[in-house]
Amino acid sequence: MVIKVDLELRARDADRAVERGDLIIVIDVLRSGTSIINALVNGAKAVIPTKTLKEAYKIKRHYPSYLLAGERRGHKPRGFDFGNSPIEFTSEKICGKKMILTTTSGTMAITRSWDAELVFVGTFLNIGALVKKAVEVAEKKSVNVSFVLAGDKGHFSLEDFICAGAMTYRFKEGEVCFSDKVQAALLTFKQVRNNLSKSIMNAEHAKHLIKLGFKRDIEFSSQLDICKAIPFYKNGKITLLNPNNEHIQRSTT
Ligand code: MLT
Repeated sequence: MVIKVDLELRARDADRAVERGDLIIVIDVLRSGTSIINALVNGAKAVIPTKTLKEAYKIKRHYPSYLLAGERRGHKPRGFDFGNSPIEFTSEKICGKKMILTTTSGTMAITRSWDAELVFVGTFLNIGALVKKAVEVAEKKSVNVSFVLAGDKGHFSLEDFICAGAMTYRFKEGEVCFSDKVQAALLTFKQVRNNLSKSIMNAEHAKHLIKLGFKRDIEFSSQLDICKAIPFYKNGKITLLNPNNEHIQRSTT
């Protein structure tokens, strides 16, 4: 079977990928996807994404030992243990804990995919391992693949699009057939691949984060292929598909 690969440009369009019955790869490079992967790699038992702050506080009331993380307008909400900086989630703080995460767009894209059977979280950090696993699972289950880009407050995000292109670059010719949007993402990635970090820094959301003092988060999130973790969303929580196979390399930035 030749796997079709498609792409949805905003969180709310996740519904279309769900309706198609595709294996979904949710991408939110800045920053929730990268936060999720770093928390899990550093030993978090599970990440529970919620769309709203209200849901997050409600889960916290039921399970007081869970940690609360996330952002609104980039900042840590009231009473939260963490914001949404991937680098905050160190093993000292997160290992063995369950964490509730609510962000503006990323956790919305993930939770909108609730009804899909197969939902992975993709970032620059894990592209190689993720594409390999996505192809393996899509072939086994005879399903197609869709990237769902979280975007930024309902709008297109360049860094998520480039990341989809970087993943597309890893598919092997012959095993897949790309939609026009996926081909556009691939062309974009090829254009910027030698200047990846700079191109991401120039994206609108990155500029906003730099203004807020989060430049290091962008540097961390722009690292290519430094871990093999596959975050998998099922029954309302994200866990690692391959928990014993994981070591994130130390950031060089
Ligand atoms: C989001 O989900 O909207 C982002 O992760 C926002 C952020 O940069 O914190």
